[in-house]
Amino acid sequence: MATKIILLPGDGIGPEITAPTLELLSAVGTNFDYEEHAFGGASIDAHGTALTDATLAACRAADAVLLAAVGGPKWDSTDPSRPRPEQGLLGLRKGLGLYANLRPVRPLAALYDASPLKREVIQGTDLLVVRELTGGIYFGEKTRTAEGASDLCAYSRVEVERIARVAFRAARRKVSSVDKANVLETSRLWREVVRELHGAEFAHVELEHVLVDNAAMQLISNPADFDVIVTENMFGDILSDEAATLTGSIGMLPSASLGDAGSPGVFEPVHGSAPDIAGLGVANPLAMFLSAALMLRHGLGMEAEAAAIESAVDRALADGLRTRDLGGSASTHEATQAVLSNL
Ligand code: NAD
Ligand code: IPM
Ligand code: MN
Repeated sequence: MATKIILLPGDGIGPEITAPTLELLSAVGTNFDYEEHAFGGASIDAHGTALTDATLAACRAADAVLLAAVGGPKWDSTDPSRPRPEQGLLGLRKGLGLYANLRPVRPLAALYDASPLKREVIQGTDLLVVRELTGGIYFGEKTRTAEGASDLCAYSRVEVERIARVAFRAARRKVSSVDKANVLETSRLWREVVRELHGAEFAHVELEHVLVDNAAMQLISNPADFDVIVTENMFGDILSDEAATLTGSIGMLPSASLGDAGSPGVFEPVHGSAPDIAGLGVANPLAMFLSAALMLRHGLGMEAEAAAIESAVDRALADGLRTRDLGGSASTHEATQAVLSNL
């Protein structure tokens, strides 16, 4: 049976970076059975909700999900009763049990000068953010009254242990567990569970605990010191956008969201729908290309094809490809041609 991929182009630049990604996937010799679904704001417009039951069921039954981005000013509202595109993303992650979000940050030498940070600072950086994706403040009970609002942050031992295990297994050198244990009870539990798992199963891996405010500073002053960063949902969200600065642009960072073996993964760039440039044909498609590579590697076991995409991206950049976010003027189309010609 053909490999089934659910495509969720979503909103904003989403469709503009999805189409060239399919070209690239076919150029590396894949022959997938694609099924496209409206998602996020597009799904709100079509069906009144950001994620329909039918779309979630289709994702569950697929081999992998390739997602671009959701959201935009059209659906932004402070009214809690209005549907939001982002609810689709959260519902998909929760619905598929995708608790592990892997965000590799591997700045390429060709792009050192595209970063606002100094070359000497970036050099040698090759880190992985392992972000917990289905717990914490994102999913706790929310309240809203005329006078106030609250978001509950909760974690169970099981939730912390399973994400910590992903991090230890991915580590080559060291795990930096990032928390706010000097203030938050959830962080104290986090630290305790990570420490226990380390002692019981991963004592051969170096472990350090870093407070999140310090981690945010170290990430751009001494990034090469990190190997694997494991952290809770919201800290991971913020730190990964910060880490994107090391690679030259948020338009470079891919991600893989994985659950337990057997559940399909979701593969998507770290960036959003970039409403400020949507429709202009200038979005950087590379984070989406690299997300497709992660899909091939982690979701479908196609390492050779994954590596082919990654090295074509590297070579195109080494040849001078620069989209606007990287300080150049290449359009999405030109960027796609540059990568295709380096395959
Ligand atoms: P954003 O990541 O969409 O954009 C931030 C900045 O980076 C903008 O200046 C944008 O033009 C630029 N940028 C992002 N991706 C780019 C690319 N591929 N090429 C060139 N430039 C790029 O973040 P935001 O503006 O804070 O959010 C916009 C919307 O996206 C919001 O509705 C937000 O909720 C949503 N969002 C969705 C996802 C997702 O679907 N996974 C992730 C983040 C934000
Ligand atoms: C991301 C995004 C999402 C998140 C939003 C859009 C819900 O910022 O994937 O990083 O916060 O997880
Ligand atoms: Mn984010």
